[in-house]
Amino acid sequence: MEASVPAPSKGIFDSANLEQRERIVELLCKAYWMEIETVMSYISNSINPDGVRAQEIIESLDQDVQEELGHARQFGARIKELYGVVPGSLDFQAEQSYLQPPDEQTDIVHVIKGVIEAESGAIEHYNRVIEFCEGRDPVTQDMVIAILRDEEGHRRLFEGFLREYKAEGLA
Ligand SMILES: [Fe+2]
Ligand SMILES: [Fe+2]
Repeated sequence: MEASVPAPSKGIFDSANLEQRERIVELLCKAYWMEIETVMSYISNSINPDGVRAQEIIESLDQDVQEELGHARQFGARIKELYGVVPGSLDFQAEQSYLQPPDEQTDIVHVIKGVIEAESGAIEHYNRVIEFCEGRDPVTQDMVIAILRDEEGHRRLFEGFLREYKAEGLA
């Protein structure tokens, strides 16, 4: 009797894995919106702050805007590769209540804490995506691991800023 040779697996593109692929696209759409909202929040928070102490934060957020935009593009490209569609603006729902402009534009601690919260939210979601991709979609997983590292770096930087304010009794 001839042994039947199983068809080679097409991985996440295998029709047997359709549901999992759709779930990954959903997770990536959420990540895409998180990046887009972060871009909006970081633009406003890189322009609004007043004062000598604000300059370091402004410069750092200016740079982050470009990085987060790059992340959004990567998430969008992967959504397409997985046969999803990058959502349109009408699907957008804002969530970052903590990154709205403070009452006083010299309130830098508010901005620093907001950035830490945004980065922590991204880190949490991206860890979830990485876990879901385990054994299912190594390419998406690899991409999200690299993005996760950027977010961990962003959070660490702003934790350092907060530490300085705490040391001076300002936070
Ligand atoms: Fe990002
Ligand atoms: Fe970030």
